[in-house]
Amino acid sequence: MAEKVITIAQQKGGAGKTTLAIHLAIAWSQRGKRVAIVDIDPQGSLTQWHKIREKRFGEGYTGVTFSALSGWRVATEVSRLRRNHDIIIIDSPPHTETEARTAIRSADFLIVPVQPSPTDLWATKATLDLAKNEKVPVRIVLNRIASNSKLGQTIAKDLPDLAQTTIGNRVLFASSIMEGRSATEVSPTSPAALEIKALAEEIGHILKITNDSEDYEEDKAESA
Ligand SMILES: Nc1ncnc2c1ncn2[C@@H]1O[C@H](COP(=O)(O)OP(=O)(O)OP(=O)(O)O)[C@@H](O)[C@H]1O
Ligand SMILES: [Mg+2]
Repeated sequence: MAEKVITIAQQKGGAGKTTLAIHLAIAWSQRGKRVAIVDIDPQGSLTQWHKIREKRFGEGYTGVTFSALSGWRVATEVSRLRRNHDIIIIDSPPHTETEARTAIRSADFLIVPVQPSPTDLWATKATLDLAKNEKVPVRIVLNRIASNSKLGQTIAKDLPDLAQTTIGNRVLFASSIMEGRSATEVSPTSPAALEIKALAEEIGHILKITNDSEDYEEDKAESA
């Protein structure tokens, strides 16, 4: 399988970039993928989560490769990580176009979390324009959304490249991160975990990140 680099970007702060980076990373890691996460946000939220995780599981046992660096170094780091990882996820900072552009330029795919609010929506255009300029395929992920949200439905109608999977407003996303884990680890059958697994599946399908154990099952079935 060719390795894939996924950048998570959105100029608006607090949209859910770090939450999605963590949850997708662990979801794919749990499916046997070699996952690296790269924090180029000076706020260091992803770094903080990984530190807590190291304390919990031990250094080298977090299930993901972690690096934190400034945006201008990202291309070099990504080409190094490409050699021995299946998936590399870059979590980018809000409010800075330069960092976002660099991270998008290094990526094979862009994920843009959007909360159902006008300000989130307006901020999205800048990020989508970057993706278009860099010719990087993109999916917008509606985050913290109620399934019957009128605003959510209205927004969804006007957005191109929308992921089918939407992510609800669920405490478990925050509480699991607080303890250095992810929703799929704390409560694998919770709505939060199921949403993330569905998103990992949907993006995985687009990027042809297949499941090794499924391949194995298919191979067995074919040779039977
Ligand atoms: N689906 C969700 N359900 C509940 N809480 C959420 C959800 N998504 C994000 N949050 C919470 O919202 C806050 C912002 O989320 P997060 O840090 O992931 O956003 P961000 O885009 O990375 O922010 P920044 O732009 O500052 O880097 C956090 O407290 C997080 O726990
Ligand atoms: Mg963040």
